Amino acid sequence: MTGGGIAGGANDREFEAKITPIIIISCAMAATGGLMFGYDVGVSGGVASMPPFLEKFFPKVFRQTAEEGSESNYCKYDNQGLQLFTSSLYLAGLTVTFFASYTTRVLGRRLTMLIAGFFFIAGVSFNAAAQNLLMLIFGRILLGCGIGFANQAVPVFLSEIAPSRIRGALNILFQLDITLGILFANLVNYFTNKFKGGWGWRISLGLGGIPALLLTLGAYLVVDTPNSLIERGHLEKGKAVLRKIRGTDNIEPEFLELVEASRVAKEVKHPFRNLLKRNNRPQLIISTALMIFQQFTGINAIMFYAPVLFNTLGFKNDAALYSAVITGAINVVSTIVSIYSVDKLGRRKLLLEAGIQMLLSQMVIAIILGIKVKDHSEELSKEYAILVVVMVCIFVSAFAWSWGPLAWLIPSEIFPLETRSAGQSVTVCVNFLFTAVIAQAFLSMLCYFKYGIFFFFSGWILFMSVFVLFLVPETKNVPIEEMTERVWKKHWFWKRFVESDYLEAEKVSDGNDLVSQL
Ligand code: BGC
Repeated sequence: MTGGGIAGGANDREFEAKITPIIIISCAMAATGGLMFGYDVGVSGGVASMPPFLEKFFPKVFRQTAEEGSESNYCKYDNQGLQLFTSSLYLAGLTVTFFASYTTRVLGRRLTMLIAGFFFIAGVSFNAAAQNLLMLIFGRILLGCGIGFANQAVPVFLSEIAPSRIRGALNILFQLDITLGILFANLVNYFTNKFKGGWGWRISLGLGGIPALLLTLGAYLVVDTPNSLIERGHLEKGKAVLRKIRGTDNIEPEFLELVEASRVAKEVKHPFRNLLKRNNRPQLIISTALMIFQQFTGINAIMFYAPVLFNTLGFKNDAALYSAVITGAINVVSTIVSIYSVDKLGRRKLLLEAGIQMLLSQMVIAIILGIKVKDHSEELSKEYAILVVVMVCIFVSAFAWSWGPLAWLIPSEIFPLETRSAGQSVTVCVNFLFTAVIAQAFLSMLCYFKYGIFFFFSGWILFMSVFVLFLVPETKNVPIEEMTERVWKKHWFWKRFVESDYLEAEKVSDGNDLVSQL
């Protein structure tokens, strides 16, 4: 989850449910899953800009950054090993997602979260104690495994434990936790950089242990979800847990629905094959495209490499880390804006407005750099440096109230029940894959394209905005089970996919109706 997708239940009928302490504890747990993810996003770029860290693990980069004028400014950090330090985490996460979807189903949500917690703790330990590059990368791979397990299990756990009326809000809350994790990492880097003795980076990498321990402890303490218990045949236990989490004895209707939903889910023999059916094409294309586009906004060039980027432009270490704290804070605040506006303004308005804002800010950055930092050792004057930071903030704020949360929210609300979990796995994988691509390529692209890299991202932003304009339907306030009728069948382009498979689609919705009648 990433911000992982928190889908609605079998349908969105309201059952009696109180916000019980166990629900609050569960939300706090989700916070640690999101914090952990965000912390890992934010921490790597900061430590990569610290000279003692570079000297120990990347001596070549260290020499390039230390010796004035020896290398073009834009190419100082161009190093595959340094990029692997960031990207290895996502490559591991991507691979593990497939196992995670199995353990989430067979071992349960709680045990999968516990596994994630152990991986996190092991990864943090390797990173904080790293003596060589191998230990460092191995630690990142362990963290990636943790993220693969956590991003699958935590969102599912949350969507099942939360009463349906707060599911949508929880989805964006998970994204908020990610941004808080990034900000926390930025702040930690800012302070540890000041430590004498050159081991501040160990504290930065080691402090990831706090959310890791909390997640492990939380997973140990909570009970598994009723859905998971029922799915694994523990009907009575599932019922008892449902009573406990809803804070009422009146749980029979919901219990029956869960039993039926689990039966229907078991009947879906080939969820991934289902996903490829023609009538699921719109959901699959939109979800995949949203994830690819989200990464090609260039957001992670900023989230991963802001300190390195600001260093490239001639900021001193302290100023670079400080500027990363500012962009991190803007990211958090703007995500809160999204929570308030997503169900009022709707998804399309946010995505399109943000497209314009992101396009303009990236173009301005490219133009400033193009004129002022053409090559070699030219550095930005203070006024222009501030202007670039302001433009980065404008870009980040637009991303944070649109593509950040919505690229996760929309896939979680458009897949029908029969393909929801498979759709979710594919969505997470595509996100991780393209996050890894950006992590592995950005510093080399910066070296090669120089300021043109921002024109490259601008081009993508233009393209994705046109995609949204014509192909992403509004899903604001549409209950999940009415998507086919109210959204796909009415869409100028996508209707051809659902209409030709009309009978088949009907069969599925009949199945869903059956579930909701019980
Ligand atoms: C993205 C991450 C990104 C984060 C920034 C998420 O939605 O998936 O790749 O780092 O937003 O806040």
